[in-house]
Amino acid sequence: MIGRLNHVAIAVPDLEAASSQYRETLGAVVGQPKDEPDHGVTVVFIELPNTKIELLYPLGDNSPIKAFLEKNPAGGIHHICYEVEDILAARDQLRASGARVLGSGEPKIGAHGKPVLFLHPKDFNGCLVELEQI
Ligand code: CO
Repeated sequence: MIGRLNHVAIAVPDLEAASSQYRETLGAVVGQPKDEPDHGVTVVFIELPNTKIELLYPLGDNSPIKAFLEKNPAGGIHHICYEVEDILAARDQLRASGARVLGSGEPKIGAHGKPVLFLHPKDFNGCLVELEQI
């Protein structure tokens, strides 16, 4: 069902410092910060030859990243995103196997303009999983 790894998202306590580290120290192609009010995050995209890294920073008081950074003050991997061809078919298949889909279960438009869903980390080895329809 799942295809390529689309991105790994890392929550960071200092977006500018993290961007500069990826650009200067790791020599990656780092984009400009982009506010995603629907998701409560400011995102910086980093293009790697085989996948992307997304640096996440809280935007607004209800940001899901805020609580994550309170628990992980140094930052940490927040979620990984796999590509699927048909997100509704994937959702139905996962639900039938007992996995919990977060929120209403209806796909939202994600940071790349494509439909996304999140799966409960307790059902996936402690890792929050995002599915993105490609
Ligand atoms: Co993501």
